Amino acid sequence: MDKEEFSRIRELYGEEDVIPAHSFDNHVLEVYRNAKKLLEDEDVDSEVVKYSALLHDVGRHISGEESHAEKGAEKANEFLIEQLGKDSSFAERVSECIRFHSNRPHLKPPTREAEILWTADKMDAMGATGLCRFLLTLGAKNYSCESAVDILDRRVSEAEESLKDFGFDELIDGLNTLKSFTEQYKEENHVSN
Ligand SMILES: [Fe+2]
Ligand SMILES: [Fe+2]
Repeated sequence: MDKEEFSRIRELYGEEDVIPAHSFDNHVLEVYRNAKKLLEDEDVDSEVVKYSALLHDVGRHISGEESHAEKGAEKANEFLIEQLGKDSSFAERVSECIRFHSNRPHLKPPTREAEILWTADKMDAMGATGLCRFLLTLGAKNYSCESAVDILDRRVSEAEESLKDFGFDELIDGLNTLKSFTEQYKEENHVSN
């Protein structure tokens, strides 16, 4: 990917309605870095993974009630073909990764490239930094503490299961900060499991 393509992808995210904790610089670039790290040990189409990492959340501000993954997949497909001149099979493989990157709906990524994108995205929600971003993002959408913790709890169980399925067991420890946070919250607020 050349510099020109990179800046056009960045522009595609626009400036409107960006939640600072989930912006291109704070989140998307981090997912891109995570994806590149994961690619070091993978024999896959690395270009598909890299473009999908940079484009994966492009549906965030246009999805409304629809899934941002589905909207983003459509937008990325169109952009890759019409703006970057990529062939339709490449664009389809990238948009397939994007379509399956989200937790909602609960769909299993269909290719190894899609599993890598899923994992790279979730890695950015791990540890203290990930927890901070997650809570700030839900806060910006007016979620209550209870529902944020409830969502986090579900995400942690789903992530644990998927990381095992995808063979990324070594990343599971990254969920410990999130687990102790939700346990502590429930204890303080007398929430039963
Ligand atoms: Fe997303
Ligand atoms: Fe994301």
